Amino acid sequence: MKIAVLASGSGTNLQNLITQLHTDKNCHIEIAVVISDRKNAYALQRAKHAGIPQEIIRSQHFRDRVEFDNAIAKKIQDYDVDLIVLAGYMKLFQPPFVRQFRNRIINIHPSLLPAFPGANAVADTLAYGVKVSGVTVHFVDEGVDTGPIIAQAAVPVYDGDDEETLHQRIQIEEHKLYPEVIKKYAQEKIKIQDHNVVTIK
Ligand code: GRF
Repeated sequence: MKIAVLASGSGTNLQNLITQLHTDKNCHIEIAVVISDRKNAYALQRAKHAGIPQEIIRSQHFRDRVEFDNAIAKKIQDYDVDLIVLAGYMKLFQPPFVRQFRNRIINIHPSLLPAFPGANAVADTLAYGVKVSGVTVHFVDEGVDTGPIIAQAAVPVYDGDDEETLHQRIQIEEHKLYPEVIKKYAQEKIKIQDHNVVTIK
């Protein structure tokens, strides 16, 4: 299976997918391309070091967000990608892109959705004062972090946590969960019915 990883930032999830999937020849999962909307994203350096093609597609070079998404869609097709993996990609897709790749886009989010969607999940978690947070892997639909949930893992929130300490604890779980889900997807063991996802053991 070929995947595209989209990342806007540091790319620790990308690095983990490179190590656990791309370089493990028994997995048969190839990261065919890494796409970023930010030219300085460290994720691009990680891709370069791993010999994975990198593409920078910046929204300011397009008339509107639909055209920007279309440029991404074109790259996805050029690289013949089966699954689009968002790993810290900070832009929202417009509905036509979501329709075109329905059930072929997944995202990882640093909270137990539907609690704390959006770009500031860890800060929102701490501000609310919940005692358990976690990580969610979900399909992407037209909403903000509202797509069908594939897998979740819980993470405790401790007194005295700040954004950095909680996010680090969450990322440990992210780095376990994301490759597991992608392997299951490649094995066609993830079945989706309406808003419910069943994963076959
Ligand atoms: C992760 O915490 C993920 O849940 C969120 O963005 C962050 C990306 O981190 N969507 P990294 O760039 O992979 O380190």
